[in-house]
Amino acid sequence: MRKETRGPDGRLVMLEAEPASSDDERLARHAGLVLVREVLQLRRALPADPPPPLALRPFRSGVDDQAFLDVNNRAFHWHPDQSGWTVDDLRRHEAEPWFDADGFLLHERDGRLVGFCWTKVHPATDEDPAMGEIYVIATDPDVEGQGLGRALTLAGLAHLAARGLEVGMLHVEGSNTRARHLYERLGFTEHSAHRWWAPEGTPPPVA
Ligand SMILES: CC(C)(COP(=O)(O)OP(=O)(O)OC[C@H]1O[C@@H](n2cnc3c(N)ncnc32)[C@H](O)[C@@H]1OP(=O)(O)O)[C@@H](O)C(=O)NCCC(=O)NCCS
Repeated sequence: MRKETRGPDGRLVMLEAEPASSDDERLARHAGLVLVREVLQLRRALPADPPPPLALRPFRSGVDDQAFLDVNNRAFHWHPDQSGWTVDDLRRHEAEPWFDADGFLLHERDGRLVGFCWTKVHPATDEDPAMGEIYVIATDPDVEGQGLGRALTLAGLAHLAARGLEVGMLHVEGSNTRARHLYERLGFTEHSAHRWWAPEGTPPPVA
């Protein structure tokens, strides 16, 4: 996919490409545009290492909504697509044909939600094998850096491997150095990138 947005004078003002190539990069640079957002797709073979012991249970619609939204919106307050979610955003996702509460794993401490790993199964297509995605994952900022993100990622991958999936996949902002470090340590490597170029100072566009 490649989308060019041009101004009234025909000049390129935004270029979006997925998967982005070096030709896209050259075209953007030639037009004086800079990279304003990059979402990397990472993959790794499954199964991964077994997760450490961690109490998990599936998401319950109508019961866990607000607890999920609180952690999600605190953890992703900076994110172009994942911040400021409302119950309507959640309902829209729950109505998707791929939604499966059994693959939406929650971890609580002292009765309070502190992290979740929401997975998504992609059937095989002409271009890609069947893949299990770590769709959205977050830990509450109060408990970050305690190993929970790593444990939740491994638990999500184990859930997907148990479904027979042999490829694990996820998307991560190029600028999210903490998450990228975590995924690289777990054996994920870059498969492709979705990139946007625009005039310097343009806020990251919504995907
Ligand atoms: C990314 C995220 C899930 C990681 O969860 P976490 O519980 O903090 O991660 P862990 O404690 O398991 O740490 C994983 C690695 O990150 C490192 N790390 C943790 N906190 C860090 C910090 N503040 N600065 C730098 N590195 C940090 C840890 O050292 C560890 O690396 P190591 O294995 O080399 O020791 C969490 O920070 C988060 O929810 N971020 C906001 C939402 C987000 O970005 N989600 C991912 C979207 S793709």
